[in-house]
Amino acid sequence: MAILQILHFPDPRLRTIAKPVSVFGDDIQRIVADMFETMYAAPGVGLAATQVNIPKRILVTDTSRDGSDPRCFINPQIIEARGTEQMEEGCLSVPDVFETVERAESVKVQAFDQYGMPFEVELDGLLAVCVQHEIDHLDGKLFVDRLSPLKRSRIRRKFEKAQKQAL
Ligand code: NI
Repeated sequence: MAILQILHFPDPRLRTIAKPVSVFGDDIQRIVADMFETMYAAPGVGLAATQVNIPKRILVTDTSRDGSDPRCFINPQIIEARGTEQMEEGCLSVPDVFETVERAESVKVQAFDQYGMPFEVELDGLLAVCVQHEIDHLDGKLFVDRLSPLKRSRIRRKFEKAQKQAL
């Protein structure tokens, strides 16, 4: 297993639209294991493969905060969404920024696990928000895209400045 490097906003690679997984083999299981290790080390409650520069439709979550609820969703699709909910979100690719985002309150998701077994699950609360946030990553979207243009450009300036200082 390995801890992977997480891309930071506004890295253009975060805008990549990830491709579906078609072959489930050892390489996919290795990517999933590395993604879990990377997410727990960060620490975070969710990670999409796009964030570690792997353009495949894979995401992992664990919203338990004690490592007891690891979940993997491959080629995830939201087939039903109900209600709306506002929750404060953060993102490992946008460190130290927390903003309120509106999303569906509960979602029904179809996906495959890391062994290629299909499953369907209904989610609500933090896990529903987390999975919607991570699916956005697979489509090249970030939670800051859902904020007002003013807030988004303020965040972008902050990160561009930080990157310049790091050079
Ligand atoms: Ni994120």
